This record gives sequence, structure tokens and C-alpha cells, in this order.
Amino acid sequence: MEKINVLFTEEEIEKRVCEISNELYEKYHDEEVVFVCTLKGAVFFACDLLKRYKGDGRIEFLRVSSYEGESSTGKINLKLPLDAEKINGKHVVIVEDIVDTGYTLEYITKYVNGMHPKSMITCALLDKKSRRKVEINPTYTGFEIEDLFVIGYGLDYDQKYRNLPYIGVVVKE
Ligand code: IMP
Repeated sequence: MEKINVLFTEEEIEKRVCEISNELYEKYHDEEVVFVCTLKGAVFFACDLLKRYKGDGRIEFLRVSSYEGESSTGKINLKLPLDAEKINGKHVVIVEDIVDTGYTLEYITKYVNGMHPKSMITCALLDKKSRRKVEINPTYTGFEIEDLFVIGYGLDYDQKYRNLPYIGVVVKE
């Protein structure tokens, strides 16, 4: 197996996820909230957020794709749509793994807005701000990172490494 430099440990991630989950509860209290998990990358983050959430949290899944290997193909494809009935009139929190150019989050926010939620915010575990091509910023961010290709805790490199409990960078020989 390749050498991996750890960027965020399991404990650091858990602490930050708890903080965000508590901030979300402070915002919504006992109102119903639909967490929209973007597959596959955000699956661990969304489940952990929800597991810690003290209020009425629901979960829905959406899948889009634009990446192959380490680079974006630029074209976003909707692979698994949302059920509009589950979004219409609800408080929605879009849960993303990482915001890079911002094209994916822009696409998803427009798509979800078209379903007329009561409110909508975005929550990304990681943010590579310096790479942004469109003006979009997540409402909540776990960690801001440099321009590095990261893997683990749901994030993949060609479907590999998602199962790592930490976030890291593959060291290239
Ligand atoms: P964007 O559309 O360029 O913002 O890309 C967002 C999507 O690209 C994320 O949801 C990830 O699936 C993928 N992505 C971007 N950077 C990374 C990375 O460093 N590691 C793994 N996936 C990434």
C-alpha cells in the first residue's frame, strides 16, 4: 500500500463534526431538517453529522459525478436524483465532502433550489478555497485546506481509499 500522510485524524474529524452538528441544532432546534448527502464522498460525514444531531434530522441522497482520477471532467452528471416531495417546503442542509472549483456545489444548490425548500444551507467537510472557479462558499466548513488531492473518510482516488477513517494525502514516489 502507498504511503499516506495524515492531514486530519479520526479524533480531529469527530471533534469538528460534533461542533458543526451542535451549531446546526442551535440554528434549527426542533424543526425538521433534511440532510441531503451527496454520494458517495459525503456519506461518512453526513452519517456522522446526523448521528450527532440532537434534533429532528432526516436524510436523503443525491449523486452527481464530475471527477475521474484527480481531475474534474468539468461536466456534472446527475446520477441519482432527489425526490422533490422530500425537499419541497423543508429546511435543507446540503452535505458535501469537499468544495474545489465549486462547480458541483453550484450545480447542486441550483438543483435543490428548484425544488423550493423552505430554506437551504450548505455544509462541506473540506474547502479548497484557492481553487475556486465560481463564486460559491459553503455556509459551514469543516476544514479549509491547501490545493492538495486528499483521500479517506469517504473521499476517493478512483474509488479507492474511501474506507480510511482519517483524511490524508497519498505520497507519490
Ligand atoms: P468541484 O466541482 O471542483 O468543486 O469538485 C467537487 C467534487 O470533486 C467533490 O465532491 C469530490 O467528489 C471531488 N473532489 C475534489 N477535490 C477532491 C480531492 O482532493 N479528493 C477527492 N475528491 C475530490
